[in-house]
Amino acid sequence: MANQIMTDQTASAPRPQQTLSQLRCIGCAALSGQAAQNFRCPTCGDLLEIIYPGWKSADGIQANLSPAGLRSLWRQRKLSALPLDQSGVWRFREVLPALADWQAMISLREGNTPLYELPGCARSVGMQRLYGKHQGMNPTGSFKDTGMTVAASFARQEGFRWVACASTGNTSASMAAYAARGGMHSLVLIPEGQISWGKLSQALDYGALTCQLKTDFDGCVQVLNEVVQRMPVYLLNSVNPYRLEGQKTAALELLEQFDWQIPDHVIVPGGNLANSSALGKAFLEMKDLGLISRLPRISIIQAEGANPLVRTLREAGGKELVRVRAETMATAIRIGNPASWKKAMRVLQATDGTVEQVSEVEIAAAKAEIGADGIGCEPASAVTLAGLKKLVKQGFVQPNQTVVLILTGHLLKDPEFTLKFHRGDLFSGTGHEKEAGSLSNQQRAPVVLEASATAVIRTVDKFST
Ligand code: F0G
Repeated sequence: MANQIMTDQTASAPRPQQTLSQLRCIGCAALSGQAAQNFRCPTCGDLLEIIYPGWKSADGIQANLSPAGLRSLWRQRKLSALPLDQSGVWRFREVLPALADWQAMISLREGNTPLYELPGCARSVGMQRLYGKHQGMNPTGSFKDTGMTVAASFARQEGFRWVACASTGNTSASMAAYAARGGMHSLVLIPEGQISWGKLSQALDYGALTCQLKTDFDGCVQVLNEVVQRMPVYLLNSVNPYRLEGQKTAALELLEQFDWQIPDHVIVPGGNLANSSALGKAFLEMKDLGLISRLPRISIIQAEGANPLVRTLREAGGKELVRVRAETMATAIRIGNPASWKKAMRVLQATDGTVEQVSEVEIAAAKAEIGADGIGCEPASAVTLAGLKKLVKQGFVQPNQTVVLILTGHLLKDPEFTLKFHRGDLFSGTGHEKEAGSLSNQQRAPVVLEASATAVIRTVDKFST
């Protein structure tokens, strides 16, 4: 399979301009050419980020990075048949780290995801208009693919045979797919019983060695950190800064879809806090390059039961991480010790964004509303709409402003949640039963009938009155 991909992509790939990138520690600012196995700064242990000193010359931004030039080049590539251009990530390669060998690229034609209007949701929130950028429309059904194409390609270029991650489900599904396409083995560590069947089945189908550990996501990360030190395996968790570079492209694509008009607010779910960090980095870099003149405000929404960032900001002024024991049915963001919290804090500060938390029932209601707009998403993505309702009530978001919700995962990732919601037993036996009473007008349980047209028509009549 690996060979097939190579022939697919080699023949006519142009020699893309090499972007000079470097790794820099977000804590002590130490620079390095290559990362350690754990992607931590060897001096102070903090996270690394990728910077591009090559973008600037003595006279300012390099001439080949002019805003008009980049916009037209990226648009033109949409018409190209080259796999490198058909990827909605590598299409933006001028602002990504360059592979030394482009044949190492592993792509599933990720990115290029739709921007939808959400008219029903807009009405229910009291906004004039509302948009959803649906990252769940990526090849494995989540935004993870945009980062994975970059980081997995680097793993392949460096000659790794094994890649590994700890995951709440989507990273593992994505990693397993890209590893399989790139001819690498993948090792998945997931918390036993805490990820959705849809995501688990993807990892299995893509051939990952899947270990269900008797712990939570944060425990899986700890075990993985030790594994990475003890065997030659390439770490594909979001501490890997190459993943964030790929995830940046959703912001570029969004601006392109808005014809470079800048939205007022971008609202993102917060788990390990890499995606909010990546999108923020993208907007800041676009501003540096002159592609945009101001920044949208980026706000991060967490589930009440998995709210370390909200508490970090409210209780510790954003200075020290307040870890929590995470609990939420939005299993994708069931994370109490987020690795990228400092990066996310920087984005909140730089873009003047905010944080909010939403209840389990608010998440379920919001998810059904997004579904009723004919779009759908997984529970973790729906925190964005639930959070927006609060931000509008607080006056942080004005009804006439342009708001984009980042919908991170596909509806079919977690069908069990949706079925239970519509059957009315999602909250049975939980402390939320009373609050969940408010959901009944959104529930559409399947109706079991005799096999007769009369029975069906009678039901339709009842439904329409
Ligand atoms: N939405 C979905 C659907 C996710 O899968 C995740 C994270 C997030 C939001 C939060 O993004 O971690 O960058 O803040 N899922 C990870 C995983 C942790 O393992 O799949 P984040």
